[in-house]
Amino acid sequence: MVIELKKNVYWVGKVDWELRKFHGEEYSAHKGTSYNSYLIRDEKTVLIDTVWNPFCKEFVENLKKTIDLRKIDYIVSNHAEVDHSGSLDELMKHIPDTPIYCTANGVESLIGHFHKDWNFVPIKTGDKLLLGRRELVFIEAPMLHWPDSMFCYLTKDNILFSNDAFGQHYATELLYNDLVDQAELFQECIKYYANILTPFSSLVERKINEFISLDLPLEMICTSHGVIWRDNPSQIVQKYADWSKNYKENQITIVYDTMWNGTRAMAEAIAHGIMSADEKVVCKLFNISRSDKNDTVTEVFKSKVLLVGSPTINRGILSAVAGFLEEIRGLKFKGKKAAAFGTYGWSGESVKMINKGLEEAGFELLNEGIKSIWNPNDKALDECIKYGKEIAKLTKMG
Ligand code: FEO
Repeated sequence: MVIELKKNVYWVGKVDWELRKFHGEEYSAHKGTSYNSYLIRDEKTVLIDTVWNPFCKEFVENLKKTIDLRKIDYIVSNHAEVDHSGSLDELMKHIPDTPIYCTANGVESLIGHFHKDWNFVPIKTGDKLLLGRRELVFIEAPMLHWPDSMFCYLTKDNILFSNDAFGQHYATELLYNDLVDQAELFQECIKYYANILTPFSSLVERKINEFISLDLPLEMICTSHGVIWRDNPSQIVQKYADWSKNYKENQITIVYDTMWNGTRAMAEAIAHGIMSADEKVVCKLFNISRSDKNDTVTEVFKSKVLLVGSPTINRGILSAVAGFLEEIRGLKFKGKKAAAFGTYGWSGESVKMINKGLEEAGFELLNEGIKSIWNPNDKALDECIKYGKEIAKLTKMG
């Protein structure tokens, strides 16, 4: 399938309706995804990115129906991760000498993936590629989200090809942002940001400021996943600007696991206390062993406070909670507060261990946490309600 976005600018990607897990098993993609590739025809013809390699033959066959492959003068690889570069190997069998424009880090990554001595042309920010009537301007975007990542901008048509940035794992045949369900779209956008871009928020903020200072007219943002932003494309740039600044809503998220429902009872009593002390705060509970990890991370991203609970087992914590703490350690959330809770029978290390994990993940501890021996009785649950009220009062937003 080929779709003309503007005169002589074509979408030549692949919509992957079946995908449910991305990055191996790390990222849940409930709505599938797309791998967006673009072809620009002018006096010279340029292909921007390819698609994931399970679709490489389909991609190349589709391209062949659109253009004699030998007429592709340049390839631009905005990002070497294989969901975008994965069809290069197949494509280069047909046009082995075609120059591939990418960053210096892109050269390294592409060689690292494919072990091929292709005709690489390393670029730097501000370098231009004259296509004829229009030119492509390159903008390096290191660590958004790999060292090699870059954007390119098509003059006259005023299109930013942003690769992963501003994208989302969202399969749709409707292609454009104004045609799809807005709640679904923005849920996938914030999930993508929370799970992939959070560790690089300071770089996101800087890159957005740099892009705004270039004062380039912007008619369309063509990302590498999901919709093309043609209706008010700045809206997603503004969202990224907001999300990059220690984003939080008036929400408290409680994440726990439980063996015999004691820690669950504590979680629910704490939530009851929170909600009875602050009727405006959103409080959500997730049993992490039964919840989607990435959806839960998205809720943490939206939260001002995170409470984590586990019973003590083998002088430690339940493995699902341990995995979750590792997940949030890597994401480097900033400006969020946290506390721990859990049941125990004898040694009772869980709260201490969770506190340590939360601190290592960059959360500010509100207190030492709350423990309850064996299965919490009414008195212990009253203590949890009281504890929840204290958390709500300590963190109440204007
Ligand atoms: Fe969509 Fe970083 O790859």
